[in-house]
This record gives sequence, C-alpha cells and structure tokens, in this order.
Amino acid sequence: MREAGRRLGLVHQQIAGEIRAGMSTMDVNRIGEQLILDQGCIPSCKNYEGFPAAFCVSVNEEVVHGIPSDGRILAEGDIVSLDTVLSYKGYHADATRTIPVGKVSKAARLLIERTRESFFVGMRKAFAGRHLHEISRAIGDYAKGFGYGIVRDYCGHGIGADMHEDPEIPNYRQWRRGIKLKPGMTLAVEPMINMGTGNVVWAEGNDWTAMSADMSLSAHYENTVLITDGKPEILTITDDEREAGYLDLF
Ligand code: MF3
Ligand code: CO
Repeated sequence: MREAGRRLGLVHQQIAGEIRAGMSTMDVNRIGEQLILDQGCIPSCKNYEGFPAAFCVSVNEEVVHGIPSDGRILAEGDIVSLDTVLSYKGYHADATRTIPVGKVSKAARLLIERTRESFFVGMRKAFAGRHLHEISRAIGDYAKGFGYGIVRDYCGHGIGADMHEDPEIPNYRQWRRGIKLKPGMTLAVEPMINMGTGNVVWAEGNDWTAMSADMSLSAHYENTVLITDGKPEILTITDDEREAGYLDLF
C-alpha cells in the first residue's frame, strides 16, 4: 500500500504541472494514464464497472466521475478535479486533487484550499483508538463553517486489495460513532465540497457524472491514509505538499 501510494503521489505531482487552458479533458486523461503506466502501475478506474478512462476529470460544477472527452476544453479560470486509482502488486491507492487552470477567482482558490484543509483537519482524528466518524464530523464541521455545501451522496471508503472496501466514510456528522480505528487500516478519505448546495444531480446521457444541483463550483481532495500507532501516514501525499508543510497540520 505504501508503494502504491508513493507512486500515485508522484503521478499527481507530475500531472498538476501539465494542466493548462486549451487542453481537453481527454488530453488530461491520456497524460495521466501514461504517468500511471510509467510508474509500472495499472489504472484501476479503466473499465471499472464500465468507466471508460483511467482518470475521472471533473470541471467546475462537476463533483465527481467526470468522463474525459475530446470536446471538453479547459479554459483559464476553470477548476478541474483529477481523481484516479492505480494498483501496484495487487494493492490500490486512490487520490484526487483539484487544480486551478491558470488564474482563478479568489472564491475558487479558497474553495480548493479549504477542501484540502478539511481533509487535514479530519486527519487530526485519524488515530488508533478513536472512532471513524470523528474524522467525518471534523471534515464536515470545518467545511460547514465557511457556509459550503457538503456532498452527501458520495463518501470515502476503505481501500486495499479492492478499490472500494468497507467502511464507508461520510464527510459529515453522524449520529453513531462508526468503527474503532486500528493500526494497519487503510482508508481513502475524500471530502467533496461545493460552493453552494451540497445536493447533486446527475448528467443526462451518462450514468456517472454528478454535478452540484445549483451549478456552483465543486472541489474534491482525497488521499489514501494508513492508520498507525502514531500519526496517520498520508500514503499519496505529493512532494509539493510535503514541502508546503501540510503534514504539520495534524
Ligand atoms: N475515487 C473514485 C471513487 O472512489 C474513483 C472511482 S474510479 C471509477 O469513486 F472508475 F469508478 F470512476
Ligand atoms: Co475514492
């Protein structure tokens, strides 16, 4: 799991530097798929329950599971979420980053930053002996504090030999505490946060893509995490994030 995560961190580190206005979302997928293959890994999303690509590429109001397309061209000011899973020696790692295309509005930049921060605030609870929904509550309460909408139709999940394993990991407060966290558990924690309502609608014409119901911007941030005897290990952290000091936020 560590090695799968490290390789996915490298993929995200590299693809973030490739995103620019004028590219299609299919260009993004092509570059990303090649980076996964160059790491000696398998793109787990491709053909997963019929999903046609290695990356989910979701633009602006698209929340999750955007299908790459030659006709969808990124423009200056867009935000784009890159969500992908790879496997290495039979183990999966899952991570998402939302990337600004060129210069974006201050509101968009803050949405991206605070979505990422909500993940790290969640990590303050990702300690053995605590309960899973302490993470959920920390994430949701943090995002709610800004008046954002928290997506409830999608959750994080356990991950390992399968891409999606138990337990589900909601990004909002529950009325039950969830399982007790134990060293060795590997979790994909993935807040999806909207500028407006957290409600989603699904695109006409495909069974995958979810959009914010009010067409407001949506950001997504995800890492695969290992619960340990001490601090959680963020297996899919990128070098830029490590250098920026995100690991000191929890
Ligand atoms: N991180 C996404 C998820 O957990 C990736 C799914 S791959 C797809 O749902 F093939 F289902 F799109
Ligand atoms: Co996931």
